[in-house]
Amino acid sequence: MTVLAQPHLDAPLSTAMREGSQAEHTAAEGSSFMAELLGGRVNEAGYTAYLLRLRQVYAALEATARATASDPAVAAVFDPGLERLAAIDADLDHWAPAGPRTVDSPAASAYAERVTNATTWAPLFVAHHYTRYLGDLSGGQAIGRILDRTFELGGAGVAFYAFPAIPKPKPYKDAYRARLDGLNLDADEKQRVVAEVKAAFGLNQALFAELSVDLDRYRR
Ligand code: HEM
Repeated sequence: MTVLAQPHLDAPLSTAMREGSQAEHTAAEGSSFMAELLGGRVNEAGYTAYLLRLRQVYAALEATARATASDPAVAAVFDPGLERLAAIDADLDHWAPAGPRTVDSPAASAYAERVTNATTWAPLFVAHHYTRYLGDLSGGQAIGRILDRTFELGGAGVAFYAFPAIPKPKPYKDAYRARLDGLNLDADEKQRVVAEVKAAFGLNQALFAELSVDLDRYRR
């Protein structure tokens, strides 16, 4: 039997994480909720439903990051300047001023639970930190611009995509990746982290899938 090599596990951790999750990233980009949202075909109720789910995920991410910030792996990526919870609340004030701030979402609950449980081994939590925040600093930036243009928001309701503490995402992401690489994980450990990144993408897909079920109601 031929054992296929896994070249990305010889690579630095940040490369392994990016290359190892490429298929999952493409799948996330192709989700119907994202396509409808970026096409300007999702209404206020739909965007609010999305934000409420993100709120639950970021609440877990940010509480866990703060609680475990002294762990060396978490310390390598921890940065209050990344935190999104206040921005999400500001956006909810725009999209649904009188609405609830919680939602009954099996997908968001499962995602939040996975994030919280990732503290069993800190690099697993780092996989979740990477998947959301590096995504927000990458494609998320374009998504924010498209939403702003499509909904003619003039910057209102899209605080989620703005990182005032990080004026230049490119050098920030490079430095973040260098810190990941500095964790010096062995091949098995890298494989566990890459698997958790894939799982994180899957949890995001599940979140989109849950929202897609109600696309008729969310049609703009
Ligand atoms: C329509 C949806 C999406 C688009 C258009 C998009 C687009 C992009 C683009 C263009 C990049 C590369 C930017 C660069 O070279 O710096 C990127 C990177 C990234 N995206 Fe996405 N993305 C989408 C959805 C997502 C989702 C749902 C996630 C996960 C929650 C995600 C996570 C990431 C991550 C972690 C990176 C950084 C990869 C790395 O450099 O290590 N993206 N995205």
